[in-house]
Amino acid sequence: MSSINPHGGVLVNRVAAGAEREALLEAAASLKSIVVNNWAISDLDLIGIGAFSPLTGFLNEEDYRSVVERMRLADGTVWSIPITLAVDEAKAAELAVGERVALIGEDGLIYATIDVQSIYSVDQKFEAVNVYKTDEVEHPGVAKLYERPSTYVGGPITVLNRPVPEKFNEFYFNPTETRRIFAEKGWKSVVGFQTRNPVHRAHEYIQKAAMEIVDGLFLNPLVGETKSDDVPAAVRMKSYIALLDNYYPADRVFLGVFPAAMRYAGPREAIFHALVRKNYGCTHFIVGRDHAGVGDYYGTYEAQDLLKTFTADELGITPLYFEHSFFCTKCGNMASSKTCPHGKEDHLTLSGTKVRALLRDGICPPPEFSRPEVAKILIEGMSEQPANA
Ligand code: ADX
Repeated sequence: MSSINPHGGVLVNRVAAGAEREALLEAAASLKSIVVNNWAISDLDLIGIGAFSPLTGFLNEEDYRSVVERMRLADGTVWSIPITLAVDEAKAAELAVGERVALIGEDGLIYATIDVQSIYSVDQKFEAVNVYKTDEVEHPGVAKLYERPSTYVGGPITVLNRPVPEKFNEFYFNPTETRRIFAEKGWKSVVGFQTRNPVHRAHEYIQKAAMEIVDGLFLNPLVGETKSDDVPAAVRMKSYIALLDNYYPADRVFLGVFPAAMRYAGPREAIFHALVRKNYGCTHFIVGRDHAGVGDYYGTYEAQDLLKTFTADELGITPLYFEHSFFCTKCGNMASSKTCPHGKEDHLTLSGTKVRALLRDGICPPPEFSRPEVAKILIEGMSEQPANA
């Protein structure tokens, strides 16, 4: 098994199996129920498989307040993103603390049960300002928060049915599986890479720089809910496979998805991303420019600065920090301000908007920006998308 401890010391497993599951499912059919959306299902599943260890359920009031105010669970363990279950007021009024309730998907399937520990109302603006550093609804994470009711139900869960991926099933792994796989490969050090984008040359550069000092790379793209103008996960998956096939040594990279929703919470999400990758068995985690950021809400290195306020022991995974990287035409290679003496005029930088416009017109961005194999897949993917998607 991987030598790195899960966050909080124990890898949580809240997925019922076999006869126990059968019995719990039967009992759950006669419980009161809460209808949960796909985002909540993805959260409960990630709790169940231990990706969110040490969480054993949706945050109760004490943990919620502590996480929002000081980025720690009530017992002091670092945790930066509130993982919560929102229910409308009428539904909350039907429920009582101490009761077991079924969590049912919009498809009618019972995904889990929750043992209700607390039912509490929150100040969404306070949550937004603390977690996202803004209460502007233009921020996609804040918009999602404001769409939800402001009453939360907290308590431990038991997963009874797991969501079935529509595609790319072979890239879904539980933390117990990734830990076993890394150990089988003999990897003592593994660097995790979070992305919600296609892997362009700057991403490749920082991954490979990290690969020079660790045994393996865990390419762990986020494939849960993202904002509508991000490249869809199915297209990205094809592009990752093409990239790895052509440019990475097969025995030094492992591709597996992170089926969580993207919060766009910048610095706080960087901490969350690192802790979750520790649970998957990574010893190191890459944090580059504006990690998990959106628009101009966060400073370029704010995520790095926030991570640096925690001790190595508290995090238990080593962040690897990278400067903004680019292709320098004078150097003739990828670089950053740490390695390149030339000015901005010599650096190739393209905005996401510009790249999307090129791809939509069927034009490959320059190979110094994106590998042609990747660009080709993105162009094909774009042509299957409506223009505003
Ligand atoms: S994220 O929202 O998932 O963080 P993205 O997929 O763009 O977005 O980034 C993945 C990782 O690569 C993050 O750690 C980010 O900071 C880093 N990164 C992205 N682009 C660059 C770049 N040009 N230079 C350095 N780091 C970068």
